[in-house]
Amino acid sequence: MTYPSTPSEPATPLLVTGGTGTLGGHVVPLLRAAGREVRILTRNPRPDADGVTYVTGDLLTGEGVEAAVAGVHTVLHLVGGPKGDDEATRTLVRAAAGADVRHLVYISVVGADAVPLAWLRTKLESERAVAESGIGWTVLRAAQFHELTLTMIEKMAKLPVLPVPGGLRLQPVDSREVAARMAELALAAPAGRVPDLTGPEVHDLPALVRPYLALHGRRRRPRLPVRIPGKAGRAYRAGANLTLEGARTGRRTWEEFLKERAGRAREGASATARS
Ligand SMILES: NC(=O)c1ccc[n+]([C@@H]2O[C@H](COP(=O)([O-])OP(=O)(O)OC[C@H]3O[C@@H](n4cnc5c(N)ncnc54)[C@H](OP(=O)(O)O)[C@@H]3O)[C@@H](O)[C@H]2O)c1
Repeated sequence: MTYPSTPSEPATPLLVTGGTGTLGGHVVPLLRAAGREVRILTRNPRPDADGVTYVTGDLLTGEGVEAAVAGVHTVLHLVGGPKGDDEATRTLVRAAAGADVRHLVYISVVGADAVPLAWLRTKLESERAVAESGIGWTVLRAAQFHELTLTMIEKMAKLPVLPVPGGLRLQPVDSREVAARMAELALAAPAGRVPDLTGPEVHDLPALVRPYLALHGRRRRPRLPVRIPGKAGRAYRAGANLTLEGARTGRRTWEEFLKERAGRAREGASATARS
């Protein structure tokens, strides 16, 4: 992949918060392949590796954050958790504004402004903190990653009946494709809010579960219709967690992702059996 020229000098490292996570784990090698040094902020100390240095810190306590942004022009902010993303982002923005950061690139979630859930509000608040930082910024909203969808489906597949929230649809996307887009955005000039990135298909829950059960040789489950209550339920039924128009769509489908995962698991099992 080729990237457009960067507004910051190639000599400065890029800071990746969340560089040890699912998305970050795909983004960092792409930045390295583009010839950039990478600094990662993590709560858990790690030894530096080729072209990658680690700063120990925590965006919820503020520890290590000033050291992480020092001498950096571009920050990819990929930290995410069940709560506190707004606070974490404000801490990062404050430190970045006090340093020489010129581009903040933030990953948000499709529907951040449309589904009334507390954790999505923290994503929206984070978007606002980035946009109001006074620093050049880019925000990409992505749909649910295949990995997170898989975690959800694995839990559901263990139940004797399949709960089917009426009207819930997902548009799962491959995290490697999100990573490629984030790397591309980070190596370009600030672009503000860019088109959302979603998966290539929209599925309801039974359509997500079916290929999983088939691949794992499990029998189909009876369905139990359930209703997501309240305003969030209404928003989901209205498709507020989807971007059906104007999005970029990834190519790797849910079923392709599942097949690849199952293939890797089989290879792993036969390698273990051989050793
Ligand atoms: N998963 C999805 O379906 C999805 C969809 C759209 C957008 N997103 C967004 O994409 C981002 C990455 O998601 P992911 O699934 O890759 O996350 P993940 O695998 O759960 O990784 C979370 C990362 O955040 C870091 N982190 C968490 N709390 C921290 C703190 N207080 N201080 C510093 N670092 C902290 C962790 O680093 P250490 O543990 O090393 O400290 C880890 O690298 C998140 O912002 C998420 O909201 C995710």
